[in-house]
Amino acid sequence: MTVSLRNFKAKEALPRMLADAAIVQLAAILSLCATFAYYLYGHGAEQWSREFFLRELQARYLQQFPTLAVVFLLVFAVTGVYTRTRGYSVRYKWPVLFRACGLASLLYLSVSLLIDRDGLFPRSTLVLLPLLTSAGVVGARWLNYWLETTRLVASSTPAATTAVNQQAPVLVVGGAGYIGSIVVRKLLDRGRRVRLLDKLTYGDSAISDLFGHPNLDFMIGDCRNIQDVVRAMSGVRDVIHLAAIVGDPACAADDKNALEINYAATRMMLEIAKGNGIERFLFASSCSVYGASESVMDEQSQTVPISLYAETKLNSERVLLEAKTDTFHPVVLRFATVFGLAPRPRFDLVVNLLTAKAFQEGIITIFNGDQWRPFIHVDDIAEAVCQTPTCPIERVSGEILNVGDDRLNYTLSQIASLIHTEFPSTRIENVENADRRNYRVSFEKIHQRVGFSCAKTVEDGIRELRLAFEQGRIADYKAPLYSNLAYLKTYGGVHANNQLDGEVMAAFSRSLGNLDMATAEDAGVKPGVAASALSRSKA
Ligand SMILES: NC(=O)c1ccc[n+]([C@@H]2O[C@H](COP(=O)([O-])OP(=O)(O)OC[C@H]3O[C@@H](n4cnc5c(N)ncnc54)[C@H](O)[C@@H]3O)[C@@H](O)[C@H]2O)c1
Repeated sequence: MTVSLRNFKAKEALPRMLADAAIVQLAAILSLCATFAYYLYGHGAEQWSREFFLRELQARYLQQFPTLAVVFLLVFAVTGVYTRTRGYSVRYKWPVLFRACGLASLLYLSVSLLIDRDGLFPRSTLVLLPLLTSAGVVGARWLNYWLETTRLVASSTPAATTAVNQQAPVLVVGGAGYIGSIVVRKLLDRGRRVRLLDKLTYGDSAISDLFGHPNLDFMIGDCRNIQDVVRAMSGVRDVIHLAAIVGDPACAADDKNALEINYAATRMMLEIAKGNGIERFLFASSCSVYGASESVMDEQSQTVPISLYAETKLNSERVLLEAKTDTFHPVVLRFATVFGLAPRPRFDLVVNLLTAKAFQEGIITIFNGDQWRPFIHVDDIAEAVCQTPTCPIERVSGEILNVGDDRLNYTLSQIASLIHTEFPSTRIENVENADRRNYRVSFEKIHQRVGFSCAKTVEDGIRELRLAFEQGRIADYKAPLYSNLAYLKTYGGVHANNQLDGEVMAAFSRSLGNLDMATAEDAGVKPGVAASALSRSKA
């Protein structure tokens, strides 16, 4: 509650509060009318006349008007309707709004019983009031959302955009996420035209301030849907593919969708890209494909994916690299583990999570402290993604590039010490768990070929997160919006929109069984998790 109030920004919230206040009043009048109409037509006692109805309506409504307005707006504010749920897409907002309306109605009843029992609305009105208010506030948000997307999609048709700028846009798929929202900003800052395709799984809060930018074509869509992808790729020269279910836990919790989005959709997209004459196709993979190893891993090292997430990434890499031709140039970027602030912060990433816990709970809990991991600031990763398309094609075509910096390989204990230096009064707690990921990575190749090296250190990231907490810019770091797994668990999966998409994805997943076995045999590990996920998803 304190977090919701601390993050309350009056200027942003005021128009929505006024609209909600109007909806609450309208719902109250309609509920009263419905109750009186019920008695007036058919069930009324002698005194139920039109005059009596109007008099009662006026008296009761005017008596209750201030209480209603104060109680509802107060409950909406403390339950996060104007702060925490702001960035959620509408389908995730309605449970919060229904809960807030129910709570406000109960509170209104209690307050009215205490201060003005005689003027209280009739019981049937009190039943109708939360229902109508909920329908009103949810409906208003749907309408707003629909108007906004209609306007944006209309402005994203190729005919409309060619007039804005003749330069071919770069398509960023998954551009509304943690990394993508910075990539899109950097490309726009460089004067590039950007087309952004995203399903808005985690809402639009990371990019909503860019709506209306003359060089941005924004499309809400699913990378599993053929029409969405064909439309998004029309007139495009370069594709940056970032969309995925990201992270081991999130993929393990929803293996069917993880397979579809992280692997099958990549296969479909590359076919459409080749058909559309796309030149460069940048794919966001992960250093987690290296799995567990004591050596320093480079792009030639043997991969040992030990999670479904890593396997979907590795198999996507393979199909993409196999698809290289003289005119189609796939580039695989294996990202280090990202940290730092972004328009959509994530607190399910190790540096961010440990810093948040240190700040808010005074404890740094590390799991398997001896394990190595390469790290990179989110701003640097976005910079690498933006630099790669502009460097000479022969340096990167058909190549795998680890994205990070040799100086940023750390054990998790070292990360804990860096955070402890920033928060000296915290306690470090060591815990063992089943996560066996352990890899140190060489980033020499991207340095040589693209000239990329990181500008920010882990300490920079910790300090900026600390500042964001101190300034109240981050609400509760445990809020589902900041964690992919928590968000998908709270608000449901990211299922394909229709049966046809599901069938297309099943067809594109089919060869995964073989690839997966090859991966497993190459790596000398048991047949992969992707194959078993595939058979489960077919069942
Ligand atoms: N963050 C990291 O530490 C890290 C490390 C290695 C690799 N990566 C890779 O970088 C990419 C971006 O990661 P992130 O941290 O920004 O993740 P994120 O979860 O913040 O963003 C993913 C974006 O993809 C979108 N998306 C999901 N499913 C979609 C679908 N079916 N159609 C269209 N859009 C869809 C989501 O709405 C979201 O905006 C991912 O491919 C990820 O695997 C990230």
